[in-house]
Amino acid sequence: MATAETAVTGVSFALTDEQKELRAVAREFATKEIRPKAAEYDVQMTHPVDVIAKAHEVGLMNLNIPAEQGGLGLNSFDSMLVGEELNWGCTGIGTSLGANGLGAGPVMIAGSDEQKSTWLPPLLEEPILCSFGLSEPEAGSDVARLKTTAVRRGDEYVLNGSKTFITNAGYAAWTVVFAKTDVSKGHRGMSAFIVPMDTPGVTIEQHLDKMGQRATDTSAFALQDVVVPAANRLGEEGDGFKLAMQTLDFTRPGTAIGAVGVAQAAYELSVEYAKERVTFDVPIAMHQGVNFMIADMATEIEAARLLTWQAAWMLDQGDRATLYSSFAKRFAADTAMKVTTDAVQVFGGYGYMKEYPVEKLMRDAKLFQIYEGTSQIQRLVIAKEIFIPRG
Ligand code: CAA
Repeated sequence: MATAETAVTGVSFALTDEQKELRAVAREFATKEIRPKAAEYDVQMTHPVDVIAKAHEVGLMNLNIPAEQGGLGLNSFDSMLVGEELNWGCTGIGTSLGANGLGAGPVMIAGSDEQKSTWLPPLLEEPILCSFGLSEPEAGSDVARLKTTAVRRGDEYVLNGSKTFITNAGYAAWTVVFAKTDVSKGHRGMSAFIVPMDTPGVTIEQHLDKMGQRATDTSAFALQDVVVPAANRLGEEGDGFKLAMQTLDFTRPGTAIGAVGVAQAAYELSVEYAKERVTFDVPIAMHQGVNFMIADMATEIEAARLLTWQAAWMLDQGDRATLYSSFAKRFAADTAMKVTTDAVQVFGGYGYMKEYPVEKLMRDAKLFQIYEGTSQIQRLVIAKEIFIPRG
């Protein structure tokens, strides 16, 4: 199958030798360290602590942490190349490995030099996790409705509330918690705080049991009279909503490329199976009913990859990427769902069985249409960008 790097002329996404090497390292890691664990960790809902340790050791985590803090400082485009391969291995494990990008995103965007040098280097020194505490039981898509409060008390804030659906929170060293510092101001009364998860009053309530991506932890936690220093506030009071949106602009291409990874995996399995499985005296690849499905898979995966690469490229130019991040997230997530559903169809009865890998891919793909903003929220963002351009 032609890929973006060979298919595009004029506007070129031709990969450099270094980028090809980076992608090959990630594919090898996914093949040797992720794939062999994927099925078992899915069944057992295992937090992939061993894979996290190995990925950390070989430098496949925390890719965007800037060089000033001792990180690789990889740009968004290059981290897409790694993200696709890790998620090709398993999106549950891939999400566990990539979620530090979301957790640390607000610190990278809005942290002071002191905050950056306090909170980012430890992520490079040890395989520790951080998370992004935005969603609440009554505020998922509608962020402005969140109810967690942060009340100033001298040089501290006292936080109360609850968070849910938070990736890696159950194993995180710290979480960026979004809370209202002024409930009368709606989204303009929201602020962001770095909360160490061992602070008294933070309780992990549940490691949630999910349909797919079961090897990634998704937890609910409560904050009861949790005291954090005012020095842990990111930006000014009231900056929280915009910081959450800016973070999601930055991370949605990374989620989109995860969807491309799972779709690519389903596509490759479908091609192999279609060549082997015989009906009516020929491999099923010879039947138009099957090969048209596979032709559509290849086309749509390539379109999703290109859209995601473009969003990442725009971020790397310093452009406002809200529209393209949502284009990429919406299209890649919906493509992954369609491709993995069709992969089950190509496999027929076997596809529906847990013995074969594609039913897991279909369950895994579903989450891409929900987390980091549902496909409907992406359309809402796109429509706002069209009708109320913010420049
Ligand atoms: N960058 C900067 N500022 C932005 C912005 C952006 N991308 N988007 C909006 N803003 C600003 C607006 O300019 C506006 O500013 P003013 O106060 O100056 O007017 C303000 O923010 C409010 O914007 P809207 O009126 O557009 O806000 P809204 O309340 O209508 O909702 C929304 C916007 C896009 C629907 C938003 O609520 C949203 O993105 N919802 C989805 C949330 C989401 O993705 N959650 C996933 C959580 S993370 C996760 O899933 C990972 C995990 O761990 C599982």
